[in-house]
Amino acid sequence: MVARRPVLVVRRAETRDAEALQAIYASPGAQAGTLQMPYPSVEMWRKRLADFPGGDYMLVCEADGAVVGNLGLHATQGSPRRRHVGTLGLAVRDDWQGRSVGTALMREGLAIADRWFGFVRLELTVYVDNAAALALYRKFGFEFEGTLRAYALRDGAFVDVYTMARLRDVAAVPALPAARKGGRKPTKTARKHA
Ligand SMILES: CC(C)(COP(=O)(O)OP(=O)(O)OC[C@H]1O[C@@H](n2cnc3c(N)ncnc32)[C@H](O)[C@@H]1OP(=O)(O)O)[C@@H](O)C(=O)NCCC(=O)NCCS
Repeated sequence: MVARRPVLVVRRAETRDAEALQAIYASPGAQAGTLQMPYPSVEMWRKRLADFPGGDYMLVCEADGAVVGNLGLHATQGSPRRRHVGTLGLAVRDDWQGRSVGTALMREGLAIADRWFGFVRLELTVYVDNAAALALYRKFGFEFEGTLRAYALRDGAFVDVYTMARLRDVAAVPALPAARKGGRKPTKTARKHA
């Protein structure tokens, strides 16, 4: 018998998703692959979801009606010269990994990053031994940039990460419309600088 494909729906995260997010990050694989701490609390997630900073955006993926994965997009804080840069992170509950949830989240997350945030550069870090995440990121056009040694502590051992990035074609910016025939004449100052 052929296994039925689950129905995957990606939508914006809501405060009512706190319990589902707690369950995702309480699963050992999701915790180990990210920077989350053991024993996440529902209350912590409720607060996070209620006070999302303006530059942050979170999607969740429902599989057959239950939230089993999430993806966060984060605008780079600080310098205005890094406004074109975003970061991305995601996790899928352990019992749903390998069933296309990550792919569904990436597809929608990247569409929002490109078409609504306008990020030109999306960057992320991934543990060097995280084969599933590396496969997913490569599939969506992220490229290897470097290695950061002993980047994080994971269950008693320091682990390295790769930095990866995906650069979008800046030519997506439309050209200015050509001056209309018989339109308003340029000012003297504009003519001087033409
Ligand atoms: C990494 C993660 C988000 C991927 O999501 P997922 O739903 O398991 O991935 P998908 O099922 O959509 O598979 C994506 C691709 O990776 C490949 N893949 C999945 N598991 C893999 C594995 N263990 N080894 C190699 N490739 C793997 C799939 O074949 C697929 O490629 P394809 O479409 O070309 O066949 C998920 O496994 C996860 O949450 N892991 C723990 C947390 C984590 O590591 N987050 C990322 C932090 S950087």
